[in-house]
Amino acid sequence: MSIALVLLAAGKGTRMNSEMPKVLHKIAGAPMLAHAMRTGAVLAPERTVVVAGHGAEAVALVAADLDETSDVVLQEDQLGTAHAVDQARGALADFNGDVVVLYADTPFVRDETLQRMIDARQTHHLVILGFEAADPKRYGRLMMDGESLERIVEYKDATEAERAITFCNSGLVACDRAMLFDLIAAVGNDNASAEYYLTDIVEIARARGLSVTAVACDEAETLGVNSRADLAQAEAIFQQTARAQLLDLGVTLAAPETVFLSYDTVIGRDAEIEQNVVFGPGVTVESGARIRAFSHLEGCHVSGGAVVGPYARLRPGAELAENVHVGNFVEIKNAILGEGSKANHLTYIGDASVGKNTNIGAGTITCNYDGVFKHRTEIGDNVFIGSDTMLVAPVSVGDGAMTATGAVITRDVDPGALAIARAKQDNKPGRAKKLMDMLKARKARVRN
Ligand code: UD1
Ligand code: CA
Repeated sequence: MSIALVLLAAGKGTRMNSEMPKVLHKIAGAPMLAHAMRTGAVLAPERTVVVAGHGAEAVALVAADLDETSDVVLQEDQLGTAHAVDQARGALADFNGDVVVLYADTPFVRDETLQRMIDARQTHHLVILGFEAADPKRYGRLMMDGESLERIVEYKDATEAERAITFCNSGLVACDRAMLFDLIAAVGNDNASAEYYLTDIVEIARARGLSVTAVACDEAETLGVNSRADLAQAEAIFQQTARAQLLDLGVTLAAPETVFLSYDTVIGRDAEIEQNVVFGPGVTVESGARIRAFSHLEGCHVSGGAVVGPYARLRPGAELAENVHVGNFVEIKNAILGEGSKANHLTYIGDASVGKNTNIGAGTITCNYDGVFKHRTEIGDNVFIGSDTMLVAPVSVGDGAMTATGAVITRDVDPGALAIARAKQDNKPGRAKKLMDMLKARKARVRN
């Protein structure tokens, strides 16, 4: 069956106390909207419609970035969840199949749960996702009659007896497109909030003799983010789950609670991650690599046998081949390091390529930026870059070449050549004491 996703993302999120629309706040490096879209992606949707309101332009940019085929529709005034879904009516006018409504601020619905909703659609016209709430708070209550869902009553409109029900509405809905918009057309706003409640479609469907049911999920899946505290909690939950998944996959985490992952972090089996490592978005670490304590990685790829850190920083475009060593206080950006090469201490390598089995001495810097433009440094195989070499890009060092310690390399170095580029040393016998005495005398004069 064809599926269209409708993601509700218009709410103001007042309690976030933010200039930014709520659904663009990030969990594990990705906006909540992306998490919702990723969840929905298991249904291989043919169409995705994002209903935006507050900060719609920013939401539209992010939605297009995540899925260029998605539609973003504007809900100018937030008149309720039925009104929100109704904004997708035009965008889906030519779509035949099922609509699944998701909240963009509810990032943890499991793939398997969505699948169960779709399965339940085989036998029911309308399927709602419910959950058994430990503390039902202000959620809508699901009034079941056996398998049949008869009505959803919003907390504000519920009687004491209805409030005693603990089976609650998550907000997710699955229904045939034409039928859903027919039902929504019949929703009014005569209720405690004067809003168009999507939940009213249940009672309307039942009155029309349609069959409605609720599928149940874990309460944890329906965690919605309404405040920064919720966001922090959602982040913690994400991290816990992601760490557990890595452990299951055979990754060693020396102290799992101190390792922070992104939504897309990929780490291979038997990789070893030490304490206090942070993975920004876009990192792949292959099987058998070792990331040592206090390292920060983003947008990079680390091959098997490579050792990174402690205290290393890999920035976007860092590509480490097999058995590369990147040590303490080394920063790599937009640079490829070939197999077996080493940069072990206090180094910056940016906009560069380094061949195989090359040794980069302590304190080496690729001077890649002239204040306006970025320039590349090309270093060959089996090169020895002496400590404290400044490579003033654009510049290249050929295979098997060496640079002397303290060199400032401004011209290309041919393969096999030794480049010495530093001032000649001049030793003045006995001058140390003379200089010291002179300085001390000067200090004494300044004091008096
Ligand atoms: C809604 C449900 C309630 C359910 C709860 C689960 C209704 C009437 N009530 O209540 O039964 O238990 O979610 O969290 O549906 N939104 C828009 N436009 C609007 C209104 C809302 O896009 O005009 C979006 C919000 O951004 C949010 C979602 O819809 O993502 C839910 O809206 P919210 O106001 O939080 O609904 P609740 O009152 O919590
Ligand atoms: Ca809510």
